[in-house]
Amino acid sequence: MHLATLFSPLVFSGSVAGHVAQARLQGPTCTRTTVAILGGGMAGVTAAQTLANASITDFLLLEYQDRLGGRVMHTDFGQDPSGEPYVVEFGANWIQGLGSETTENPVWALAKKHNISNTVSDYDSILTYNETGYVDYSAVLDEYAVARHRASLHAGEILTDNLQDMTARSGLALAGWRPRRNDMAAQAVEWWNWDWEGASAPETSSFVFGVAAENLTFNQFGSQNNLVVDPRGYSSIITGEADTFLMPNDPRLRLNTQVTSIEHSEHGVVIHTADGSCVSAAYAIATFSLGVLQNHAVSFDPALPDWKRTAIEKFNMGTYTKIFMQFPETFWPAEEAEYFLYASPTTRGWYPVFQSMDKEGFLPGSHVLFVTVVESHAYRVELQSESQTQAEIMAVLREMFPDRTVPDPVAFTYPRWTQEPWAYGSYSNWPAGTTLEMHQNLRANVGRLWFAGEATSAQYFGFLHGALFEGREVGENIVRLLKKEEGECARDTQDGEEGEGECRARTHYSVLHGTTPLGAYSGTNGWGVNSTSIQA
Ligand SMILES: Cc1cc2nc3c(=O)[nH]c(=O)nc-3n(C[C@H](O)[C@H](O)[C@H](O)COP(=O)(O)OP(=O)(O)OC[C@H]3O[C@@H](n4cnc5c(N)ncnc54)[C@H](O)[C@@H]3O)c2cc1C
Ligand SMILES: *[C@@H]1O[C@H](CO)[C@@H](O)[C@H](O)[C@H]1NC(C)=O
Ligand SMILES: *[C@@H]1O[C@H](CO)[C@@H](O)[C@H](O)[C@H]1NC(C)=O
Ligand SMILES: *[C@@H]1O[C@H](CO)[C@@H](O)[C@H](O)[C@H]1NC(C)=O
Ligand SMILES: *[C@@H]1O[C@H](CO)[C@@H](O)[C@H](O)[C@H]1NC(C)=O
Ligand SMILES: *[C@@H]1O[C@H](CO)[C@@H](O)[C@H](O)[C@H]1NC(C)=O
Repeated sequence: MHLATLFSPLVFSGSVAGHVAQARLQGPTCTRTTVAILGGGMAGVTAAQTLANASITDFLLLEYQDRLGGRVMHTDFGQDPSGEPYVVEFGANWIQGLGSETTENPVWALAKKHNISNTVSDYDSILTYNETGYVDYSAVLDEYAVARHRASLHAGEILTDNLQDMTARSGLALAGWRPRRNDMAAQAVEWWNWDWEGASAPETSSFVFGVAAENLTFNQFGSQNNLVVDPRGYSSIITGEADTFLMPNDPRLRLNTQVTSIEHSEHGVVIHTADGSCVSAAYAIATFSLGVLQNHAVSFDPALPDWKRTAIEKFNMGTYTKIFMQFPETFWPAEEAEYFLYASPTTRGWYPVFQSMDKEGFLPGSHVLFVTVVESHAYRVELQSESQTQAEIMAVLREMFPDRTVPDPVAFTYPRWTQEPWAYGSYSNWPAGTTLEMHQNLRANVGRLWFAGEATSAQYFGFLHGALFEGREVGENIVRLLKKEEGECARDTQDGEEGEGECRARTHYSVLHGTTPLGAYSGTNGWGVNSTSIQA
């Protein structure tokens, strides 16, 4: 293919060309490339690999950080008996649903290919506590499971019959799960089953898409979750794949490169970076997190269309903060369970789930324990000092284990996802009242600017495999578009038509209508006064 010759007349006509010319006059010349991939996490690296696999080698991968992997990120932590640090995962940690030979989770395939060490993580291996110590409320876990099964069937009917969605709170209540505000054991059980996975409360989550997402990952790929504990870090599946198509010091990879603004048009895309340089491309793939988009950390010229901006604001960016502690000894019953659920007497979500790493297959003999907080508690701990957080956690642990002398940790650390300028949160979630069309607007391209990542996955949002699937699909889309420009497209459609899997742009919905026609705003429905005609 001769993509450079093919794309140059396109990109240098029209309005973007003017900017490029101006930039040239003013100094820096934009590097020209066929495809600019913005962000080197799972989605960006997979998109680049998809291009490389199709012999499209003229691309540039721009990454804010000094490393690839994005939200798959590890850190050295504490010390093993020989004085070497352990490695723990601040971001993605599990391979969620391994799949079978026919429907394998592609992340599991990568884990095997790169020989990532991982161990089954047994969510049923859990002991229950409250402020008085060990209290067996495991029966409440079973109660939740029964209601959750009923809820799952109901959500399936809502989806199939195109009925109105509701919050997961409502869906669970209709299925018989109605925890009282003062039933703190039930609150803890619910947190463990809902918030811990989605990093969002049942009140803010879509019932239909929450249940469907769990079905799609865990019914399709199986319920097994494997925890990755590898000294090279989980991100080595991403860097390992990058090594298959990038040369050492490949000039097509630009680390430490922060994208600040993106000019886009029908003709091409010009990307400006914080170091004052620019890249002009026939196509760009933005893989920034939803948090980066919502925080306007990158600006767009012209501003993104209404339908795209609305989609960006519609979805939620959750925060999931793991707090790691190494103790001088293992004072918790590490032989008896992997998880320890704590019901605070006053506050739902207050250091609810502790997880032991001191086990064969994890970090045996390490005396490492971690606890996870989400939402408001994650925002709070990310704003306060480590010593304040440590003091709160030590008070909880001393309640949970009143018969033990609980020592202070010798190492303590946690990430601050809400404050990372390249992430602004952990992963996305669908609020109640979102629709598939709204989500399609998040996925859809704006001219030559395409979007991919965890959040653009309708079926696997929030998961690493979601980012992989989306990176691959956008890459395939761009490959088809480039082939079309060369007149090699096999599946072209009529002009003006759009279609998935075709050599075309993605569908988007310019207007999304509500469900209540104007005529229904009447006395019959209790709407006697016209709210929009009253003068303030
Ligand atoms: C705490 C936590 C726990 C998780 N646990 C799991 C789990 O157990 N299992 C699971 O399957 N998934 C888990 N996930 C989700 C998983 O990590 C993500 O779905 C996935 O890594 C997202 O990949 P991505 O490529 O879409 O985005 P990212 O990984 O965010 O990649 C985007 C890239 O863009 C870069 N970037 C951002 N802004 C700019 C800019 N202005 N200029 C240039 N580059 C920029 C970023 O640095 C980043 O490298 C977890 C995530 C978090 C945070
Ligand atoms: C690219 O090709 C390699 C080798 O066939 C394969 O292992 C990999 O999964 C492909 N990647 C993508 C994203 O299609
Ligand atoms: C895979 O990893 C394990 C443990 O991490 C190691 O013992 C083994 O030798 C590795 N195998 C290969 C093929 O790299
Ligand atoms: C979830 O899976 C169950 C079991 O297969 C099914 O009955 C239900 O309809 C599914 N719900 C949704 C929303 O897909
Ligand atoms: C904690 O458990 C103890 C023992 O079962 C019980 O007496 C107490 O009421 C529980 N605390 C709360 C807040 O429910
Ligand atoms: C309310 O009044 C405005 C202005 O007169 C009108 O356009 C609108 O249709 C009315 N709405 C309803 C619900 O009747």
